[in-house]
Amino acid sequence: MKETTTLYHERLAFQPVLPLALRELTQLKAVPLEEASTTISDAELQKLFPHTWKQGIVTFLAQPEVVHRPQRVGVVLSGGQAAGGHNVITGLYDALVKLHPDSRLFGFLGGATGLIDNEAIEITQDLLTEYRNQGGFDIIGSGRAKVETEEQMQAAEKTVKDLRLTGLLIIGGDDSNTNAAVLAEYFLASGCDVNVVGVPKTIDGDLKNEHIEASFGFDTACKIFSELIGNICRDTFSAKKYYHFIKLMGRSASHIALECALQTHANMTLISEEIADKGMTLQQITTEICDMICRRAEMGKNFGVLLIPEGVIEFIPEFKDLITELNDLLAKGGEDLKALEAMSSAQDKVRFVSRQLYEDAKNCFVSIPESIQHEMLLDRDPHGNVQVSKIETEKLLLEAVRKELHRRKVLGEYVGKFSYQTHFFGYEGRSAFPSNFDAQYCYALGQVAALLVDSNMTGYMTCVGNLVNDVEQWNIKGIPLSSMMVMEKRHGKPTPVIKKTLVDPKGKAFQLFENHREQWKLEDDYRYPGPVQFFGPREISNNTTLSLRLERQ
Ligand code: FBP
Repeated sequence: MKETTTLYHERLAFQPVLPLALRELTQLKAVPLEEASTTISDAELQKLFPHTWKQGIVTFLAQPEVVHRPQRVGVVLSGGQAAGGHNVITGLYDALVKLHPDSRLFGFLGGATGLIDNEAIEITQDLLTEYRNQGGFDIIGSGRAKVETEEQMQAAEKTVKDLRLTGLLIIGGDDSNTNAAVLAEYFLASGCDVNVVGVPKTIDGDLKNEHIEASFGFDTACKIFSELIGNICRDTFSAKKYYHFIKLMGRSASHIALECALQTHANMTLISEEIADKGMTLQQITTEICDMICRRAEMGKNFGVLLIPEGVIEFIPEFKDLITELNDLLAKGGEDLKALEAMSSAQDKVRFVSRQLYEDAKNCFVSIPESIQHEMLLDRDPHGNVQVSKIETEKLLLEAVRKELHRRKVLGEYVGKFSYQTHFFGYEGRSAFPSNFDAQYCYALGQVAALLVDSNMTGYMTCVGNLVNDVEQWNIKGIPLSSMMVMEKRHGKPTPVIKKTLVDPKGKAFQLFENHREQWKLEDDYRYPGPVQFFGPREISNNTTLSLRLERQ
């Protein structure tokens, strides 16, 4: 018998508070919001989404005598883990059976592959008993596969028909919700009567917009990383001997790095979006870091903490161009790619690729450490993204800083001693027990998904808003997925994708950071957030991220 912890049992017993808007569940029906206009103006997108581009936002109103029919819903967990995924499923299940006791829920195994191959299990009350308020996605597993080709679409349709599904829930990030939008459109075109609903998930925090306030998992991940960073700040402040270079997950967006900076006051935090705005080269970033290290050394401080968003490399102009060229090269296929794939030696691959690059990209590629060159050639993910979690940017920066400090030392411009440690925080924050915020947010998202399916709404994303207020005051809506789309280059081709929201250098969170960062560089004004709290006063157990509070209050 598996050994369990006391906290596991305490969390199983936790009952998420429901927003007042969800309390009369059985009387709710989706209605269009009159003033809302979300239709898309891009002609190319209109052509790609002929059935869904005109959809408007819906809200839910209590109505007398709402008739509910039994639903058969399939659910897919897609992409990277994010705390709260199990609660979306428990919220969905509880709402479905409350709306009609004969409703049934099926979970596709291993992400979209389970949908294509019709590998599903039935999710029952019994099965859910051990997953309530628990971390991870292990109830059905996740995957990064896409339903993309005509054969895959047909296979998905066959699964939907074989299981007689009336609803299909896709819980994922921007790419997975893009998939949900494409599937909704495909099913409408083929006359397959199933309602496709997306749920905003990703620790990266970039799946948000004027309507979607947050993606689930961001809150928990930031709290966990902030605890770890705070502990490192205190350790280095005690030992006074290391610079800690900490890479933080978050893909392209720096939302996690920014929130952790606000929570811990680390000495320096790179924000990729600012680097792109200012067009800063690797040399300029290195100079800025070394200037701080030299100034601190003059104060007798040879220690500190530096936060690095994992996607920063894509924002440094010379690397951005290099990555674009590499992506095109890897997407092009043909003889060149076959030759590359056939090579067994990493050095041969690097030499081969260097010969294919234009001069600037080539110069950048050959100037970086060999290990990073290899990491930049690793496979793209199924959506064509470079896998930034596999590129050790913290080591790239460290090498550049070491060289520059050595140069300054030789010139007599730097008198300090530079010892360092590198870290990468990412997986530690994705499958943890969801914070109370994520547990309650996810439970509500699951319930809204059930309502959308019950109201026959397809091509929508579940939306729970007013999140900086008490749970009771949260509001609920459905936002058309098509209204969030833009065209982007993927695998070398223009492709419709859900728009990501990056850090806004004019936003309130960044402004607060900017107002304090000079002080944090030199004064050791560290802040120690401590572990996620599940019990105790609401201010510490229910509060959400500072970024969200600053953006929405
Ligand atoms: P999603 O976008 O699917 O939510 O994944 C987020 C993420 O955790 C990124 O922050 C990270 O770059 C990536 O997944 C890592 O992917 P993998 O789990 O495949 O290593």
